[in-house]
Amino acid sequence: MDHFQIIQALTRSALPTGGAAVRNQVERLKQALADAGETRQAQSLAKLLANSAKAAEMAPSKLTQSRHTLFSGEELSKNTPLPVDRETASPLADVLFPEQIKGDMPLLDSRVAVAAKALLSEWSKVEDLLKLGVEPARSCLIYGAPGTGKTSLAIWLAKQLNLPIVLARLDGLISSFLGTTARNVGALFAFANRYKCVLVLDEFDAVAKVRDDPNEVGEIKRVVNALLQNIDSRRETGITIAITNHEQLLDPAIWRRFELQLKIPKPSFEGRVGIIEKYLSPISLDDRVKKLVAWITKGFSGAEIEVFVNGYKKYLALSGDTPDNIIPALQYLLTVSGEKVSRETHDLLMLEPPHIAAALASIPDLALSRADIAQLLNKDKTTIGRWLKTA
Ligand SMILES: Nc1ncnc2c1ncn2[C@@H]1O[C@H](COP(=O)(O)OP(=O)(O)OP(=O)(O)O)[C@@H](O)[C@H]1O
Ligand SMILES: [Mg+2]
Repeated sequence: MDHFQIIQALTRSALPTGGAAVRNQVERLKQALADAGETRQAQSLAKLLANSAKAAEMAPSKLTQSRHTLFSGEELSKNTPLPVDRETASPLADVLFPEQIKGDMPLLDSRVAVAAKALLSEWSKVEDLLKLGVEPARSCLIYGAPGTGKTSLAIWLAKQLNLPIVLARLDGLISSFLGTTARNVGALFAFANRYKCVLVLDEFDAVAKVRDDPNEVGEIKRVVNALLQNIDSRRETGITIAITNHEQLLDPAIWRRFELQLKIPKPSFEGRVGIIEKYLSPISLDDRVKKLVAWITKGFSGAEIEVFVNGYKKYLALSGDTPDNIIPALQYLLTVSGEKVSRETHDLLMLEPPHIAAALASIPDLALSRADIAQLLNKDKTTIGRWLKTA
């Protein structure tokens, strides 16, 4: 069979995460190769299948051991009653079960992705850490600008541990009535500690806001300190992840609570290209266009890029325009993007085509050739050459 090495590499990378569908197709291919007399190739696929089955068997047992060490308590079920605010009867948290959680890990710049995966390994290979006399981290603070994927990352991490996630928004929990707040905090932790789960405290900066409020007296500080103590004592029963996008509001006493502190920055240029590709699907655009969009969306969060790309898809659907006519689409998107795009970039793309060509040619980050600019502006190279000469 031609290109078998590529097939082999594809199979090796798809088997660990591809599930039953991928396994079935590899089995089919193995059979077809065997039938065609390609014995060595069939054997090679059989070996890959056997190795992946072995790895799959080992993974849950490691995870089971880890779960045993890190988490104690009863199993949460869909019928477990949620803790509620006694006055309003509204739930203090949502519970998400692993099978309900969809979506991949948010696309993070490589160093951050590596750190997030290391955190996961720390939680899924507890025995390996204990053998060397180190404890896994039980509390983690995820912080960074709004819309960078912090909540999605916390939820994804819990899914990988195959545990339910108890997701509480702290700003909702902290009520203006102190007695109620203390009771709510107590009820939330009692619930999370009773069951095997990952506790996620979203909008954690709500704590700092009340702590710093000069109108609040000692009582609120005691409530907040009790919350911090609850985080400490939860170490015995499970993991807590807190999330904030106002980290500057947190004082050192709060930072100290968290053994790991993971900053999620806004995506870099390459990161933006990746996020653009993710949300463009099923539309595919030329690399030059994706880079141009990544350049335009400098300073955007992942969530803002998603909105921008979805805006582009809507534009295509409603205008009937084709993907190769990108400049009018970008001009429309810039018009509806408020102040998010820098004024300079905005003004550049609103020029007449000959001026856009000259401006694009002078952006060092994009390093566009004449042919690239011709492609982007949907013109031929001679026209672009003429425009650039007269610019
Ligand atoms: N890095 C990313 N990769 C892919 N998608 C992203 C990324 N960041 C954000 N998104 C998209 O934006 C949505 C919102 O992200 P999320 O709620 O996780 O951000 P956040 O950092 O928690 O924001 P906030 O601080 O406002 O709570 C996600 O569901 C996802 O669709
Ligand atoms: Mg969030």
